[in-house]
Amino acid sequence: MRVVRSVAELRIALKALREEGHRLGFVPTMGFLHEGHATLIQHSRQRCGATVVSIFVNPTQFGPGEDLATYPRDLEGDQSLCLRMGVDVLFLPDASEMYPSHFQTSIEPGPIAEPLCGRFRPGHFRGVATVVGKFFNMVQPDLAFFGQKDLQQCAVIRRMVRDLNLPVDVVVVPTVREKDGLALSSRNAYLSPQERTRALSISQGLFAMEAAFKDGERSVDMLTAIAFDPLHLVDQVQYCELVDALTLDALSGDVDRPAAVCVAAYVGKTRLIDNILLNPSGDGVMFGNG
Ligand code: PAJ
Repeated sequence: MRVVRSVAELRIALKALREEGHRLGFVPTMGFLHEGHATLIQHSRQRCGATVVSIFVNPTQFGPGEDLATYPRDLEGDQSLCLRMGVDVLFLPDASEMYPSHFQTSIEPGPIAEPLCGRFRPGHFRGVATVVGKFFNMVQPDLAFFGQKDLQQCAVIRRMVRDLNLPVDVVVVPTVREKDGLALSSRNAYLSPQERTRALSISQGLFAMEAAFKDGERSVDMLTAIAFDPLHLVDQVQYCELVDALTLDALSGDVDRPAAVCVAAYVGKTRLIDNILLNPSGDGVMFGNG
């Protein structure tokens, strides 16, 4: 595994891989890697001859008062996971490499960034779109892998790729969970044991709603209420909404197209998000997936 820190080194490492004829897969991350990240890497390894992983805690996607300064880090653990998973190039830029002085150009997503997390984290998806757009230019991957856990992030990136004709296929990988259902997240490290137990109410509500959907319930109001029910155990619910899985438009009446129930909630000081996809046609195909 080549570990590179500058864009110049990255280009040299990638040139060699391309000359060997490899299809390039890319997995952008903010580190503190867990099984969710490992699964994205695995998908890339299955579909591409070479895999690039980036670790960069991107300051422009954190708002004032958010957890940029305390975001968990474990570079040694991350490096050994990448090595174990067969990553070819690990890119570890620092902030000055990503954002040279006088940096002032960004990618502004449209209305797809406005609902859900966009309402509570103004500017967040501008930061995400900008850094991912920059990474796509630096790495020039054939395929890039993102987790369904961050459903709105996937929607924003897919929209950006289409709108700006970026030559990359975006692959959305299903959410990886703990045995008890909690969606894996680097931020789970913040939870006390008691908070972790309360956090389970998020996935439990989603699973109950999914079961009702499988039993034939189609009412948006009923399904949302089922997902919401156990959330009295969390400290604050930011949203619990049933939306069109692709456009993220709020749904009303009955679910008649691929949909997602999305939740964001605080448990203690930790903000957690999760979602589950619902497909009325039952064919399991929700995304084009490159
Ligand atoms: P980060 O939170 O580190 O996540 C990196 C990738 O891992 C994202 O695509 C995310 O959706 C995926 N991921 C996280 N938890 C997952 C889980 N439980 N199952 C499956 N995939 C999971 O998302 C970011 O970083 C940043 O916004 C980034 C895209 C790197 C831009 O800075």
